[in-house]
Amino acid sequence: MSKVIAVAGKGGVGKTTLAALMVRYLTKNNLSPVLAVDADPNSNLGETLGNPVTKTVGDIRENFMKDPQGVPSGMDKVNYIEMMMNQVLIEEKEYDLIVMGRQEGTGCYCMVNNILHRFMEELSKDYKYLVVDNEAGMEHLSRRTSGNVDLLFLVTDYSLRGLRAVKRIHGLLDELKLTIGSMGIVVTRAPEKLGQAFLAEVEDIGLPIWGTIPDDGDLMDFDMERKSLMDMKDNALSVHATDTIMEKVLKN
Ligand SMILES: Nc1ncnc2c1ncn2[C@@H]1O[C@H](COP(=O)(O)OP(=O)(O)O)[C@@H](O)[C@H]1O
Ligand SMILES: [Mg+2]
Repeated sequence: MSKVIAVAGKGGVGKTTLAALMVRYLTKNNLSPVLAVDADPNSNLGETLGNPVTKTVGDIRENFMKDPQGVPSGMDKVNYIEMMMNQVLIEEKEYDLIVMGRQEGTGCYCMVNNILHRFMEELSKDYKYLVVDNEAGMEHLSRRTSGNVDLLFLVTDYSLRGLRAVKRIHGLLDELKLTIGSMGIVVTRAPEKLGQAFLAEVEDIGLPIWGTIPDDGDLMDFDMERKSLMDMKDNALSVHATDTIMEKVLKN
């Protein structure tokens, strides 16, 4: 069974960065094959991994809905959509990547969504780990039919606002019908010692802190130069912190 790792949290706190560094950890430690899933319509996990993606699952859905008769003759709809899906899947040497893209509009997308979901379920089975970069509301995750997440990382920066978003998402989880193996908080751009007010808020949420990631200037350089986080040095602050968290969390 593949293990599903997901990140969630407020925008801008470092979810995509953490997801990319987790893909880096898994592949460098031979915990592959890994599928990176970009499930945030505004996201850029591909770019962060050095792979700017133009085609998304959402595009397939929209194109099909715009022109349902556009299926080549002699092909049934399921085969056609599956063929298109295979074109959206990006296969890199170290990992594969799929970008979910826009979510469906208001029309009836049930048939095409069912095919897409089934494809995703089947695809997932080929990997040891799935790393899912989510939008704050986690809609994509909740739509997966199996709906299980083994490890959920609730990401916040060192701010009470970030933590409140974690609290909100934590509160949402019951409604989302997700089965979650375990979850914990990761604090990004964290000082060496977390302050009392912050820790009191964490205690109120009632989730463990799985780890902290310090402010890392290398991340800005990589971002500016559009370099892949796969190429970060092992001893970069954020890489070392992510590796430490992953070692701890995967051991349990
Ligand atoms: N630990 C960190 N130290 C310094 N900069 C960071 C850190 N984590 C993320 N960033 C930077 O913050 C910005 C937003 O990060 P990102 O991962 O895209 O956030 P999110 O996915 O939550 O919106 C990016 O420019 C990223 O390089
Ligand atoms: Mg992001």
